[in-house]
Amino acid sequence: EVKALTPPDIVSHKGGTPLVCLTAYTTPMARLVDTTCDIVLVGDSVGMVLHGLPSTLGVTLDMMIMHAQAVRRGIERALMVVDMPFGSYEEGPEQAFRNAARLMAETGCAAVKLEGGESMAETIQFLVARGIPVMAHVGLTPQAVNTFGGYKVQGRGNDAERILRDADAVSKAGAFAVVLEKVPEALARRITADIAIPTIGIGASSACDGQILVVDDMLGMFTDFRPKFVKRYAELGERAQAAIAAYANEVRERRFPGAEHVFGDQPKTIKGGEA
Ligand code: KIV
Ligand code: NA
Repeated sequence: EVKALTPPDIVSHKGGTPLVCLTAYTTPMARLVDTTCDIVLVGDSVGMVLHGLPSTLGVTLDMMIMHAQAVRRGIERALMVVDMPFGSYEEGPEQAFRNAARLMAETGCAAVKLEGGESMAETIQFLVARGIPVMAHVGLTPQAVNTFGGYKVQGRGNDAERILRDADAVSKAGAFAVVLEKVPEALARRITADIAIPTIGIGASSACDGQILVVDDMLGMFTDFRPKFVKRYAELGERAQAAIAAYANEVRERRFPGAEHVFGDQPKTIKGGEA
């Protein structure tokens, strides 16, 4: 029996060993990342990465619940966090509580994540006071892509104060960690030094208390576009393409299935047990 990490365990990393975080949307991927990650996020990026949506705005609570249930079955050690999708929390604290409670009850996740800084502080406080740990997300918040006019770097120049206020507000509201997305390195360093909770960077430099990436991005499985902050640790998309092409060739040339994949009329015991 492995002891699962808790929000207080995550907070204890502040200023220490960097937190390792990745997304997962399925049971097999959850099993792979659970062995080495501190936080597994069921991100609403699932809409773009697995469902072909043009942004995260079309992701529903039901989609998040289904993927989170799958991920839950693959997790033992990491802290599992689930994104609250667009439209499921912005109306106010009561709406946010109702939907976050549903996420926790139906998926067994230990915490939720929502986007927004000062404007969400009251909601974060409301959830935390009622037993729902919250991870915040400031800087580039993809659910606000239409107000930003694109996936632009946030907090450059005079805009830095706004992001700093957002990070400070979610920290004081009781969030146990905050994702800092696509902000300049100097700002990420300043925020990380200023606030009490761990900063989890994505496109926010190594000055943060941890890092997160979309797992399909870093494995080269999602290739529609490639943000500057993504490092490809593998090219699984290319390898899958090559494997599919090899299968197609072998089928067309009747080289697959081979003798070892075929059943005779009489059962026979072979190595590996399949008769
Ligand atoms: O949805 C997501 O995957 C995220 C992370 C990239 C932070 O919010
Ligand atoms: Na997200």
